[in-house]
Amino acid sequence: MSTDSRAWGGRFQEATAAVVEAMNASVGFDKALALEDIAGSIAHSRMLAAQKLVAPEEQGLIEAGLFTIAAEIRAGTFAWSVAREDVHMNVEGALADKIGRVAGKLHTGRSRNDQVALDLRLWLRREQTALGHELHRLITTLVALAQEHAEVAMPGYTHLQRAQPITLGHHLMAYVAMFLRDLDRLLDARRRTSVLPLGSGALAASPLPLDRDRVARELELPEITFNSLDGVSDRDAALETMATLSIVMVHVSRMAEELVLWASQEFGFIELSDGFCTGSSLMPQKKNPDIPELLRGKAGRVFGSLQALLTTMKGLPLAYNKDMQEDKEPLFDAVATARQCVGILPELLGAMTIRQDRMRAALKDGFLLATDLADYLVDTGMPFREAHHVVGRVVAHCLGAHKRLEDLDHAELAAIDPAFGADALGVIDADRSIARRGLPGGPAPDAVRQAAEFADTRAATLLARLDKGGPSALERALHRGDALPAHVAS
Ligand code: ARG
Repeated sequence: MSTDSRAWGGRFQEATAAVVEAMNASVGFDKALALEDIAGSIAHSRMLAAQKLVAPEEQGLIEAGLFTIAAEIRAGTFAWSVAREDVHMNVEGALADKIGRVAGKLHTGRSRNDQVALDLRLWLRREQTALGHELHRLITTLVALAQEHAEVAMPGYTHLQRAQPITLGHHLMAYVAMFLRDLDRLLDARRRTSVLPLGSGALAASPLPLDRDRVARELELPEITFNSLDGVSDRDAALETMATLSIVMVHVSRMAEELVLWASQEFGFIELSDGFCTGSSLMPQKKNPDIPELLRGKAGRVFGSLQALLTTMKGLPLAYNKDMQEDKEPLFDAVATARQCVGILPELLGAMTIRQDRMRAALKDGFLLATDLADYLVDTGMPFREAHHVVGRVVAHCLGAHKRLEDLDHAELAAIDPAFGADALGVIDADRSIARRGLPGGPAPDAVRQAAEFADTRAATLLARLDKGGPSALERALHRGDALPAHVAS
């Protein structure tokens, strides 16, 4: 029997150099996978027993030992060892410390290559589910805000120039549309993540009669991988999740940028609560929108993580390569960052003051109703291109006379074009303009309320999907800290 503490020590005569150990070891970060690693090991050991590859008493010892290790990990008392390299060998080594030689049977028919591939998928499924709930909370917060402000008029912008009147509810519902797509994408990614790679072995599967379907059922994974080389060497689920998170962060950063703009004195559309701002150490008057700025800034971190793993994976020959150990840190950071950002937004939004008066005042300047005036001419039978030109002359006239559209009288309009009737001035009214845009997807209050209802239904459908395909009962028990199942304990 080998006395070398290294799992692969049998073939080696010399000790591992200390610098090598430091670079090779991944336990410093992959210990985040510990409970998923244990869930995978329990499911694997139950299958080994069912296939008579280990005796029932041996499986009982293994499972009880793993439950104890899980408890130590949750309590923070587990002694992690860098010499044991990674989370897998730390758990297995601790199991051997507890139950002795029989611990060596756990790894029957398994390699760390298919083990880490499984752990990562279980971890991803858990995090995707948690982020999905956070996205759902953000969506319902935004829908409620939109309903509450369905009638609040404000300028809509293109090129950051005042363009046409819309409602605040409508503006907020644009973000609801984005985050609903994000949640849908996350659920798609989770479906492709929820596949069992265990049984792929190091690369060439196993000659043992492993029952892969049984392990998949135990872990509530609907599918198993169908190629062992791909099973150990694919990191698509991590890439796809980070791609999804990157799109989430694009949306978060756009909202954050608008909050920064709106909180500025130039806009003054919102006031952020003191709790979400900081001051300046130099300028006593300053109240800075740090949190929206950080939300905007953190997008770069998530994009960088996706880019890092894409670059690591590019051009790797089949099957497993140690390069792939570099998947974890960017993935963990991207997921933690996105969850933090999505998680803080509902509170941030709930704590801001909306300055409806400032939004309405901003409708006064900038000729936002010029299009409505053109639409009026179109109603008289004038081709739109001509109407556009005529109203362009009206705007030029106003600029020359230092007037707003609402300051004009009928005589001035009629002098520019006789098609302007006495009722033309009536269209220069933001509320009227908004109310007329009641098409599905439009800014009118009723259209906003309909969109909100649609979004609520869509969000509920996605939530039902979210609640179905999450972590298995076994993983949940390990995270909660449930007692060892009675049949094992006896
Ligand atoms: N720590 C390794 C990783 O994350 C686990 C797999 C190691 N496999 C191996 N053949 N060395 O990639």
